[in-house]
Amino acid sequence: MYRAVEATRDILPGEIERWQFIEQTARDIFARYGFREIRTPIFEFTDLFKRSVGEATDIVSKEMYTFTDRGDRSLTLRPEGTAPTVRAYVQHSIHKAEESTRWYYAGPMFRYERKQKGRYRQFAQIGVEVLGADEPHVDAEVIEMVMFFLASVGLSGLVLHLNSIGCKTCRDAFQEDLHKTLAPLIGEFCSDCARRYDRNVLRILDCKVDRERVAKLPSILDNLCSACEEHFTAVRGALDDAGVSYVLTPHLVRGLDYYMRTAFEVTAPGLGAQNAILGGGRYDGLVKQLGGPDVPGFGFALGLDRLVMILPENAGLPAAADIFLVVLGEAAGKEARRLALTLRHGGLRVVLSPAPRSMKSQMRAAGRSGARYAGILGETELAAGQIILKRLSDGQQEACALGSPESLMEVLAHDRS
Ligand code: HAM
Repeated sequence: MYRAVEATRDILPGEIERWQFIEQTARDIFARYGFREIRTPIFEFTDLFKRSVGEATDIVSKEMYTFTDRGDRSLTLRPEGTAPTVRAYVQHSIHKAEESTRWYYAGPMFRYERKQKGRYRQFAQIGVEVLGADEPHVDAEVIEMVMFFLASVGLSGLVLHLNSIGCKTCRDAFQEDLHKTLAPLIGEFCSDCARRYDRNVLRILDCKVDRERVAKLPSILDNLCSACEEHFTAVRGALDDAGVSYVLTPHLVRGLDYYMRTAFEVTAPGLGAQNAILGGGRYDGLVKQLGGPDVPGFGFALGLDRLVMILPENAGLPAAADIFLVVLGEAAGKEARRLALTLRHGGLRVVLSPAPRSMKSQMRAAGRSGARYAGILGETELAAGQIILKRLSDGQQEACALGSPESLMEVLAHDRS
């Protein structure tokens, strides 16, 4: 028997409704904030990710699915969506047509990561990017939007972590300081941190192993230049105005190189070590770095796999059928199929009893299906030109004329959710 590749999985009906519920809610809410969808290819030239995400990051140095195609090009299955989105923005010269652009995307990403709860090698993200706006209130507006989205899918008890990682000027100076501070201490840190010390010292602040030691290290928030300080104060003020609460987390640095200034993540209790359900921040400079104009950027991506895991149990339950047709006899079966066609074309959800069975077993199946009504059609009803409509919640029933599907639809539409 073949099985799905390790750390990938099938999403079957039963779970898929939860995914659809999240996707539909996201589309609805993001549209209210002026975001439109973009779809980019699943693979890109490898160099795109090297240049944007950064060669020293875990993603590029050890997690990418990179292959050479038959034309001898080095291609990579996208590990994230920001770089492809910015690539498309530059390729299509969008900045010439719009002053500010709001895009979102949804789809699979690929990272060869260690298998763990909530961590997959193919996982899905919904991401949002704002290109062409560097005002602090835009950062706050996008964060407010995602918190609104999370509440709308029924989630509470989440923690929004907020930080500023400064700009090149203040960060370079801070990194130098951090290097010096760490020089006599680095031997006590974990092996990943020892590696980061030379390649990407800031990431040591994000170490999950040595939290206590990390807490004693200097904070970038105390070392921001005045422009970054001002920007961050304004972001915080706008979040306060919008009633969004957050935890200031000075050691939040994010794992991709393109970030500057605002950085944020939302974590969920109960997810274990992989508890970030979304992350993002500002990335002014990336568009230019990828060959475009000097246009600022801000965005985030949320991990659908993790979000689905913490969704309330009843969220996104499949919509119940409006009517389950209980059919007795061949002639009634034919009539029921005709009626199902009319009702479905009229927008109703109809289940046809799948096989000729006793009335009792069909009624039991109707009850189990969660349908709101059973429509009973046997030889007697057929002869009278009627169908019996039985409301399954309380057993109340009435006869409707088969020749007038409109009146039937009226009854069915009555208390439809
Ligand atoms: P990221 O923090 O690498 O950021 O990923 C965002 C989210 O994707 C994470 O918070 C997590 O929920 C989910 N995720 C990441 N890796 C996995 C995995 N192996 N399995 C399951 N879920 C995972 C980015 O990707 C940036 N492009 C976000 C961004 C957009 N920044 C600005 N714009």
